[in-house]
Amino acid sequence: MTDELKRGLEGVLVAESDLSYVDGEVGKLVYRGYDIEDLARGASYEEVLYLLWHGSLPTAAELDAFAADLAAEREVDDDVIETVRALADAGERPMAALRTATSMLSAYDDEADEADDGEATIRQGRRITAKIPTVLAAFERVRQGAEPVAPDPDLSHAGNFLYMLTGTEPDAVSEETFDMALTLHADHGLNASTFTAMVIGSTMADVYSGVTGGIGALSGPLHGGANQDVMEVLHEIDASSKDPVQWVKDKRDGGGRIPGFGHRVYKVKDPRANILEEKLRDLADSSGDTKWLDYTTAIEEYLTDQGLVEKGIAPNVDFYSGSVYDSLGIPVDMYTPIFAMSRAGGWIAHVAEYQEDNRLIRPRARYTGPEDAEFVPLDER
Ligand SMILES: CC(C)(COP(=O)(O)OP(=O)(O)OC[C@H]1O[C@@H](n2cnc3c(N)ncnc32)[C@H](O)[C@@H]1OP(=O)(O)O)[C@@H](O)C(=O)NCCC(=O)NCCS
Repeated sequence: MTDELKRGLEGVLVAESDLSYVDGEVGKLVYRGYDIEDLARGASYEEVLYLLWHGSLPTAAELDAFAADLAAEREVDDDVIETVRALADAGERPMAALRTATSMLSAYDDEADEADDGEATIRQGRRITAKIPTVLAAFERVRQGAEPVAPDPDLSHAGNFLYMLTGTEPDAVSEETFDMALTLHADHGLNASTFTAMVIGSTMADVYSGVTGGIGALSGPLHGGANQDVMEVLHEIDASSKDPVQWVKDKRDGGGRIPGFGHRVYKVKDPRANILEEKLRDLADSSGDTKWLDYTTAIEEYLTDQGLVEKGIAPNVDFYSGSVYDSLGIPVDMYTPIFAMSRAGGWIAHVAEYQEDNRLIRPRARYTGPEDAEFVPLDER
């Protein structure tokens, strides 16, 4: 037993995992050995889920069966939709509404109290992953004063979400772009929300609890949420007609941080940022609207000239994802819930993997409180 204290568990190894690996020095991310660039460009989110949950890329027949099973679980009980409606009417924040609804979903899963192994976790996880988009889209529709749209089992995971959000089937470019964004966010080592889900899973609690906990952790501004900050900055620059570079100069002069730059692990440009930047270029080319691309490019070029990128404070995934989502017409405060929608796949994979060789996660704290305090009864205090 060591008494060395590692604040924030930084650098502490707590598990072995075959799922994903991040090399922050060279800017590399792999899922089960496959480079994220290859997966983002060549595989659907369903293939990535299969890879994470079942250990290998599926054959065409395996993928068909898997995607059909997933699509068949999209509908949620009317009671859940009514709760989502009540939460939207009460002005609840999207991540909090998602947290509540995900927890509620377990009431409609007969197997929810039988989570005693990794396979049960994956079966329940499939239901959760299929239903989260339905919950989120319903919440957004109600908030916009529209009726929820029922899921379409013939559409892909990405396409169906955009369809339920807008009521219209997405075009191929939008569906492909959104699918790619889901793949890019599906897993990222033992980040805070994944570890939260694993800690819960290590008690052999059901995976609804783990995913609900993961959503809670991801909702914090130190974890999810930076892409929303980036988009708000871009909107602010636009509304004030300020030069983006001037905005950055002012921010830095005031000692502020530039959202979308820097990362605890990546010391070079995040590989996911490279892919999304390319996607943003494609979207700008096809729509002719290059505003967000122009702003982000100007900011990145300026900060590169200033030596920030060389110091390891480089664009992260959030620097580009907001602009991509905005180009798809997705409201700013849905960005983090969409992150959760994708990352749920990773949370479930990590919980299932950990439970295969489970050990209750139970660290300790160094006690720094008083010793030998003399108890005084209430009426004498
Ligand atoms: C992500 C983040 C929290 C990682 O931080 P970290 O690894 O703890 O790094 P630190 O907070 O110790 O910062 C190290 C140095 O880089 C600077 N720095 C880090 N991110 C910066 C940013 N976005 N803009 C300007 N300077 C930044 C810090 O001011 C600090 O400088 P100093 O040593 O002169 O004080 C941090 O980079 C950040 O706040 N980025 C903006 C928010 C964001 O995009 N988050 C999403 C991450 S996916």
